[in-house]
Amino acid sequence: MNQEALKVLESRRSCRAYKPEQITEEELQAVLKAGTYAPTGRGRQAPIIVAVQDKETIDTLNKMNAQIMGNPEANPFYGAPTVLIVLSDKSAPTYFYDGCCVMDNLLNAAEAVGLGSCWIHRAKEEFESAEGKAMLAKWGIEGDYEGIGHCVLGYWEGDKPEAAARKDNYVYYVR
Ligand SMILES: Cc1cc2nc3c(=O)[nH]c(=O)nc-3n(C[C@H](O)[C@H](O)[C@H](O)COP(=O)(O)O)c2cc1C
Repeated sequence: MNQEALKVLESRRSCRAYKPEQITEEELQAVLKAGTYAPTGRGRQAPIIVAVQDKETIDTLNKMNAQIMGNPEANPFYGAPTVLIVLSDKSAPTYFYDGCCVMDNLLNAAEAVGLGSCWIHRAKEEFESAEGKAMLAKWGIEGDYEGIGHCVLGYWEGDKPEAAARKDNYVYYVR
């Protein structure tokens, strides 16, 4: 039994405060590689990952995300210096699930590498907007993609919180 792998899955927590320092290229590549090895329906590999480390672009996305939240003053990316955007090709019947699997691999790989991470929502609305579509075009991304989520990454600022207690009856057994 790979206890280390199980520990990574249990100890990952959402990080909501980041040091401004950028992560290393080795850390970034390790997380991205894990994302690309997520399971996908029929092995189609429908998702794509956009790794954003340009501060101006992150600030723009952060503002767009806050607007979608209905709170323009919010800081939904928590100052993370890296944002991985997962989008998925809608022509694949399982595109949404595929994208979620990629997101989960990214989050767990971040924990394995020793980084803080958090799933940030509202990528769908972000990339349905004219501004979001223009960004995809600028990045050379063509096709019918839906935004699945953002995995923000960086070094933890402060202590990692304890996990909430797991609810009763999470698991049912039939045996
Ligand atoms: C689909 C989805 C969307 C989420 N969106 C956000 C978000 O926009 N902002 C945020 O701070 N956390 C977001 N989270 C993180 C959850 O709030 C977090 O996973 C949950 O509170 C449990 O905490 P843990 O990740 O530390 O175990 C999201 C998680 C999922 C799975």
